[in-house]
Amino acid sequence: MTSETGHKLVESLDLGVDPRAIKKEVRRLVTPKSVSEYRAKISSKANLPEGVILDPAAGSGGQLLAYSKYLDRPCAAVELSPQRADFCAYQFSKASNNSSVITICGDGTDAQGVMSIVESKTGQTSICMLHVDPARPMDTQKHAVSEMRPSLSVLLESWSKYIHVGPDGPAMTLDLSPRLARQQMSEIEDIVLGVFPCTSMTWEWLSRGGGRVDRLCLQTGPLADIGSASRSVRLWNDGSFSTLQDNGDILDTPYLGWSNYKLCLGDLVALIDPVIPKSGLRGVFEECAGYARGELVWIGKSERRPLALLHEEIHSGSEIRPFVVTQGVVVGRLASKLDLMSIDSLASLAMKNNIATVQLRCSLEPRLHKRTTDRLSQILGQIHGSPGFLIEDGGSDDLVLCKELEV
Ligand SMILES: C[S@@+](CC[C@H](N)C(=O)[O-])C[C@H]1O[C@@H](n2cnc3c(N)ncnc32)[C@H](O)[C@@H]1O
Repeated sequence: MTSETGHKLVESLDLGVDPRAIKKEVRRLVTPKSVSEYRAKISSKANLPEGVILDPAAGSGGQLLAYSKYLDRPCAAVELSPQRADFCAYQFSKASNNSSVITICGDGTDAQGVMSIVESKTGQTSICMLHVDPARPMDTQKHAVSEMRPSLSVLLESWSKYIHVGPDGPAMTLDLSPRLARQQMSEIEDIVLGVFPCTSMTWEWLSRGGGRVDRLCLQTGPLADIGSASRSVRLWNDGSFSTLQDNGDILDTPYLGWSNYKLCLGDLVALIDPVIPKSGLRGVFEECAGYARGELVWIGKSERRPLALLHEEIHSGSEIRPFVVTQGVVVGRLASKLDLMSIDSLASLAMKNNIATVQLRCSLEPRLHKRTTDRLSQILGQIHGSPGFLIEDGGSDDLVLCKELEV
């Protein structure tokens, strides 16, 4: 089936080429399965109207596949590249619940052309939820909002005639680069509000625990946490997740700074998941830990490894514990950078403090990482003791050894 606008329904159950070859090509774009399943699970809890779930830039179709698994709605994937559209259709045909997903090859910004096929295949005339993960320029650390493809403003304008708009706005997930600057985030909010005024919006920063922000998305309408501008999520390997959000009050950026505090023996320090400062939730974190906002000392020498100086340990039942990577007491310092020469000094410092393993939580040249950890475990292998970790000091170039608190 081909529409007047050139959109083509893709029904191929068998690809003409080896799917592994295409899989390799799309791998770079694919949303990790754990993330797409998480998104589908939380969307299934939202109060969505009737209609079709649409991904107008579907890539491999992995996200839509997850929606079709968890939400009882017909789904439509639109993809500009014929090869990727074929791959989408192939993926859907292999899934057990493929009947509710259709694939259209064509321009996702042409809502009228897409809807002519969607209506004739599903009988539905409106979109209940839009998921967009726009393509970004390759090989760039930073990019302008206007470089996203499809263009968000063109896309939203076109779909505004078909998407259901409730009292909080339309249900949308805009899956964006975690590298977006605050200015770009405001540009995106302006685009959304320009097309759908008075829409509720929550930014979601997601971590899978690898010391970086894995995903950043803007959720709108029934998918937003009404009254929260920002939400941090820690997604665990088993698919469960923990969240922290603000209560609509001012985020921490204006009044919480970073300190160059020099750590002392006996200090209690916690390594915090970077989603907390990135999402502007340090103040909320402090309150949940029982402090006044602005009371904690934050050391942010490395964006990937923010540290907080605590007065007392954060217990396992606390709602912020999932965002504490590790916590421990300072037991010593290494006044040189970590290299093959200084490993022995670190190992003897560890032994003196009854530390049996040392996690390197400091920056280290990748080529040195394995050799250093191998050498450390060779020396400390026979020791019975506690785990420890090595961090960067706030007020000097020293490295600081901490003994992990017992869990
Ligand atoms: C970042 S990828 C989406 C990846 C997807 N979430 C996944 O998990 O595979 C963006 C996709 O949008 C497609 N695209 C770009 N402009 C488009 C347009 N105007 N209409 C439809 N698809 C478009 C690109 O070909 C690319 O496959």
